[in-house]
Amino acid sequence: MAQIIDGKKIAEEILQECKISTEKYFQKFQKTPGLVTLLVGNHPASLSYVSLKIKKAKYLGYYEVQENLPEEISEQKLLQKIEFYNRQENIDGILVQLPLPAHINSEKVIHAISPQKDIDGFHPVNLGKMLINIDNTDFLPCTPAGIREILSRSNISVLGKHVLVIGRSNIVGKPIANILLQKSDHPSSNATVTVAHSATKDLEVFCNMADIIIVAAGVPNLIKSKWLSSKTIIIDVGVNKVGEKKKDGRTIPLLKGDVDFDSAKEIVQAITPVPGGVGPMTIAMLMKNTLHSFERRIKK
Ligand code: GUN
Repeated sequence: MAQIIDGKKIAEEILQECKISTEKYFQKFQKTPGLVTLLVGNHPASLSYVSLKIKKAKYLGYYEVQENLPEEISEQKLLQKIEFYNRQENIDGILVQLPLPAHINSEKVIHAISPQKDIDGFHPVNLGKMLINIDNTDFLPCTPAGIREILSRSNISVLGKHVLVIGRSNIVGKPIANILLQKSDHPSSNATVTVAHSATKDLEVFCNMADIIIVAAGVPNLIKSKWLSSKTIIIDVGVNKVGEKKKDGRTIPLLKGDVDFDSAKEIVQAITPVPGGVGPMTIAMLMKNTLHSFERRIKK
C-alpha cells in the first residue's frame, strides 16, 4: 500500500506560515499583503476557484479587492484596470482568472501585469527568470511551485532520478519540467526529465522507465496501474469532473485524477490523491507568492 501524500495538510502548513508572517508584519509595520482578483464573466468553475482564493486571502488577513467584471468588458477596459492596480501601492498581487472570453487576448493581458505583481508567475519575464536561474526567480507558477513543495516536504529528492512529466502546458508541464531539471542545491533539482504529451507514442514504455511521474494531461484513468511499479512515485495534477456526488445534502462534482488511483495505490511507493493532493497546494502557493511580493515592498 502506497504512502498517500496529503497535499491538503501540506497546504495548511504553508497557509499557517503565511498567516503567522502576516500577523508579525502587521504588528511591526501596520501593513498587510494586498491581493486583487479580477474575474471576467461568470464561468462556474472560475467563480468557484476565485471564491476559494478570496476566502483564503481573507483568512490570512490580507487586504483583498475583488472585481467581478461583465463578460462583455472590452480588452482595453480590462487592460486599464490592470494598469490601475499596477500603480496601486497597497496591492502586491494581481490575479486575472483564466480562461478569459474569446474576444480578449489572454497573452496581452498576462503581459500587461507588472512582473513584480505577477503572483501567478505567468509573465514572460518571470518565466524567463525561472528558465535562466531558478534561485533568482521572483515568482514560480503556483501549481509547479506546489509540486516542488509537496516533493521537498515529503522528503522526496529528485536528484538524479528520472522524472516523467506528462503534459506540456504553460501553466504546469513546461514549467515543472524546467524547474526539476535545473542545477541547484534545492532537493527538487538535478533530475533527468522526459516530457510526454498527447502525441507521444508508447506512454507505457516511458512510465515503466520513470522513478517519478507528474501527470497533468486532463484525461481520467490515462495512467494504468499495470504500467507502474513499487518504486514509482506519482504526482497527479489531473482534475477531471466525472460525475456528481452528494455531500452534506449538497450536490458537488465528483473529481478524479489522470491516474486510476484505487488500483495504483496498491502498487506504487507514493501517490497524491485527487482531490486533496496538488489542488490545495496551488492556492497555498498563490498566497505565498503574494506574501513574498509584500515582503519585497516593505523591505524596500
Ligand atoms: N485558471 C486555472 N488555473 C489558474 C491559475 O492558476 N491562475 C489563474 N489566474 N487562472 C487559472
